[in-house]
Amino acid sequence: MCGIVAYNGTKNALPIIVKGLKRLEYRGYDSAGLVLQNQDGDLKVFKKKGKVAELEALLEANDVVGTMGIGHTRWATHGKPNDVNAHPHVSGNRRLSLVHNGIIENYASLKLALEKLGHVFESDTDTEVLIHLIEEIQTRDNLSLIEAVRISLSKVIGAYAIVVMDVQQPNVLVAARKSSPLVIGIGKNEFIIASDATPIIEYTKKVVYLNDHQLAVITPDDLQLLSMENVKMPLSIQEIEMELERIEKGGYDYFMMKEIHEQPVTVRDSMLGRLNASEGWARLGGLEDHINRIINTNRITLVGCGTSWHSALIGEYLIEKLARIPVEVEYASEFRYRNPVINEGDIVMAISQSGETADTMAALKSAKEMGAFTYGVVNVVGSSIARLADAGSYIHAGPEIGVASTKAFTGQVSILTILALQLAHRKGTISESRFRELLYAFEQIPAKIQEVLEKSGEQIKYIAEELKDSTNALYLGRGKNFPVALEGALKLKEISYIHAEGYPAAEMKHGPIALIDENMPIVLIATNKDAYEKIVSNVQEVKARGGKVIAIVTEGEKTITELADYAIHIPETEDIFSPLLSVIPLQLLSYYIAVLRGCNVDQPRNLAKSVTVE
Ligand code: G6P
Repeated sequence: MCGIVAYNGTKNALPIIVKGLKRLEYRGYDSAGLVLQNQDGDLKVFKKKGKVAELEALLEANDVVGTMGIGHTRWATHGKPNDVNAHPHVSGNRRLSLVHNGIIENYASLKLALEKLGHVFESDTDTEVLIHLIEEIQTRDNLSLIEAVRISLSKVIGAYAIVVMDVQQPNVLVAARKSSPLVIGIGKNEFIIASDATPIIEYTKKVVYLNDHQLAVITPDDLQLLSMENVKMPLSIQEIEMELERIEKGGYDYFMMKEIHEQPVTVRDSMLGRLNASEGWARLGGLEDHINRIINTNRITLVGCGTSWHSALIGEYLIEKLARIPVEVEYASEFRYRNPVINEGDIVMAISQSGETADTMAALKSAKEMGAFTYGVVNVVGSSIARLADAGSYIHAGPEIGVASTKAFTGQVSILTILALQLAHRKGTISESRFRELLYAFEQIPAKIQEVLEKSGEQIKYIAEELKDSTNALYLGRGKNFPVALEGALKLKEISYIHAEGYPAAEMKHGPIALIDENMPIVLIATNKDAYEKIVSNVQEVKARGGKVIAIVTEGEKTITELADYAIHIPETEDIFSPLLSVIPLQLLSYYIAVLRGCNVDQPRNLAKSVTVE
């Protein structure tokens, strides 16, 4: 979703901001813009619908220099994606400029009041209202930029990360945050402010994460943090570990393909220091301190959105099966609004790659307010959910740039597996010998993912050719393979724009079977050892109606392999760990189909990587 990059220092700000905006492209956006502060006090704003490359072309035709500036990629909420609605927005007196992520919820009433005072608006955005409000308050009381911003924000309802400039204070950037992330990179006589660390790491590893209700006043040689009550706050400088190579394509055509191929390593990384089969232990540090509370709880609720919700469904299966603790999985957006029954001592876990998804964040906050103990399973280090939760575990998958989540999914499932094993062992719901057996099997998973990647690529490319012109697809699975079916269908629709649905295989008869004909591919995740015969029947039922079956089966499987049009074989593993293997061919299938259809795999239309608005 929207991205902010701002610079205040001694170098030319333009290339730094443009490169930063490119680093943020993965978040999803539909227009881009920037403004630099130049010494003659004139605001030259450049905005363009479309990609950052189009903004660059516009900039090439102009002479743009300055050592301070703000840039933005916009994902439209209020008003269409076009040049006028793109950020930055400027005040009526052309003194102030602003970039903003989030939504000003009371913008309509503010706009009305400002119009009565003579303000005229050019765009349809809530953001333009905010910069006019700051202008009004500043000129009315002749205030400094920081004062005007601080007072204006006290009148705003909603979520924001903002950076503002004032031509009359040519050295000063003011930033503020509520619910939308903002990171400040600290260089030598320079600061880079961005929505996440990716535009910052090639300049500095030292960062300050702005907290909710904080303002920052940034000059080239100083950074001050203030509360909304104008009290100076201490700086907490942190070192980020992210390496530059991890946010570059490394020879792959798309980040998604790179990330699919990173999974043997990322899944192994998620296990590091957390499990050892020969010594017989599994231990997530974040869980260990609270384990008694968790094994004695009446219920665990898992919340998430999109792919993270699918991981949660697999987590439910694992925790219930191994640790015998009741688990509920909820869409974070539903959880927060349906007044859920949460009692003191309940456990609510948020699953999130970005750690910034607005609905997941809000669900966790309300669970906390209701007295739950909260836990985060998060990828992005230092993100809002990671900081809000009472405890948690990072998945350590490294930056995920492709909008369609792949390595974060397997990382989340891996953490939830360790969590289930740890709870089961401590609770005594599995025997010591079974625990060890499972640990040994789990340690083999990264090598088996590697095997799937090496063996199935060519076959899947061939199947993709066959399916690329389909308009619909059905994904079916039972038990823990049902969430895998959902995830496979989501991957396909996200990046290839083919309509796809995931269903529990047994539900096929209650509706989807009506859709089956020779044009309907059915992707069946059929690795189950239990209910195997029933899955064979599902294949027969589809074939009897002329459907095309693509089955994911375990090596050595014969019946479905013969019945199906295509059978993709994955290595044998413990039944409960198979989602970590069966999802890999589904990721590859979507990828190849999307490439054949000429789609932009990494930045699918309308989607955002990190959904920071409701
Ligand atoms: C967006 C992304 C999905 C992601 C979902 C949840 O919709 O496009 O890939 O699964 O948000 O994001 P999170 O960062 O909370 O896992």
